[in-house]
Amino acid sequence: MENTLPCIELEHVSKRFGDQPVLGDIHLTINHGEFLTFLGPSGCGKTTILRLLAGFEHPSSGRVRIGGKDVTDLPPHKRAVNTVFQNYALFPHMTVFDNVAFGLRMRRTPAKVIEEDVFSALRMVKMETHHARRPSQLSGGQQQRVAIARAVVNKPLVLLLDEPLSALDYKLRKAMQIELKELRRTLGITFVFVTHDQEEAFSMSDRVAVMNEGAIEQIDSPSVIYEKPKNLFVARFVGEINTFEGRVLSRNGVSMQALVEGEEVRLSLGGNGNGNGAHCASGAHGTACGSLSAGSPIKVLLRPEDVRLERAAPGDAGGLTGAIVDTVYKGMTIDLIVEMSGGKKILATEFFNEDAPEALFSVGERVRVGWVEDWEVVLPDEGSQSL
Ligand SMILES: Nc1ncnc2c1ncn2[C@@H]1O[C@H](COP(=O)(O)OP(=O)(O)OP(=O)(O)O)[C@@H](O)[C@H]1O
Ligand SMILES: [Mg+2]
Repeated sequence: MENTLPCIELEHVSKRFGDQPVLGDIHLTINHGEFLTFLGPSGCGKTTILRLLAGFEHPSSGRVRIGGKDVTDLPPHKRAVNTVFQNYALFPHMTVFDNVAFGLRMRRTPAKVIEEDVFSALRMVKMETHHARRPSQLSGGQQQRVAIARAVVNKPLVLLLDEPLSALDYKLRKAMQIELKELRRTLGITFVFVTHDQEEAFSMSDRVAVMNEGAIEQIDSPSVIYEKPKNLFVARFVGEINTFEGRVLSRNGVSMQALVEGEEVRLSLGGNGNGNGAHCASGAHGTACGSLSAGSPIKVLLRPEDVRLERAAPGDAGGLTGAIVDTVYKGMTIDLIVEMSGGKKILATEFFNEDAPEALFSVGERVRVGWVEDWEVVLPDEGSQSL
């Protein structure tokens, strides 16, 4: 379904409102049939990107192409895209059928074709039995499905979805995420989705573009974003992460000796067996790990599930050590809070093993802190990245 032909191309697009820059030099290609999600905090420019694609905004500079055609100067109705907006609105005085038929009628589609197409779209979102109802007689999730049916009924090349699930409760949101994925498979069209919810972005997308203050910090598959974040912002925006400060002592190809939390440790620059430090490549603000040499300040990032704890033997010296200060039972897993010898607290997540309760750590126990080899992420410490 997905192929590598470009469907959407943003060529060095920037946008300012008055003298406020909102998007800076966005340059990216979305392929036909791809599910791409813009993920980022409130105000980072996600809706603005969708409005530029839909034609409701004009870029301050740069070009927008859809299906190989330059649409930068075309109005919304001349673009092969349809949008489900952040605050979707159905026409309250119209039935479900008429809401979905609206766009087709505007284009003077024959009545028979309208009926077929509307029912086909309603079937897709499982709302065909509700065709005669008015929006006020539907739940929030049902209204949202009708909004999606209305957007897909005229078979756009691209479906733009701006936080379409944010008003729904947790269970319904999960169900709709699965339905949207299915819909993408059925329709084979390109989905561009916007959310500030990491879990939602990861569960549906082929690629995720993590945004911050009008820039794309990283665009990659969900697993690469999670396991090989390019910088501290991305690392922290997608899940929990432990951060250690350190300094390079010596470097040897793809590994290095470093002083971390006052102890000498070996660090891998390859990361996840990936060979050559792909996650060390420069990001929006990052310099490559290639620039690291003896004396360089670094940050070492470690996901809680990659931390490995071992009981420290009495008199053990050297290496990273700490003491368990709290344990939090989570069902499948247990969160362990470890206070390192220098006072820093970190989070380690372990699977709960009912068969070996003696393996569980208890508060007060001294532990050695390590990690699954190659799963640490090393970044140059620029000292300027904060959240
Ligand atoms: N028409 C406008 N005029 C002036 N400023 C605007 C306009 N539209 C958006 N902005 C500003 O541009 C920035 C980005 O807004 P945008 O709506 O794209 O953010 P967002 O990432 O969608 O946020 P949210 O997650 O809250 O929906 C914000 O600072 C916003 O105030
Ligand atoms: Mg928005």
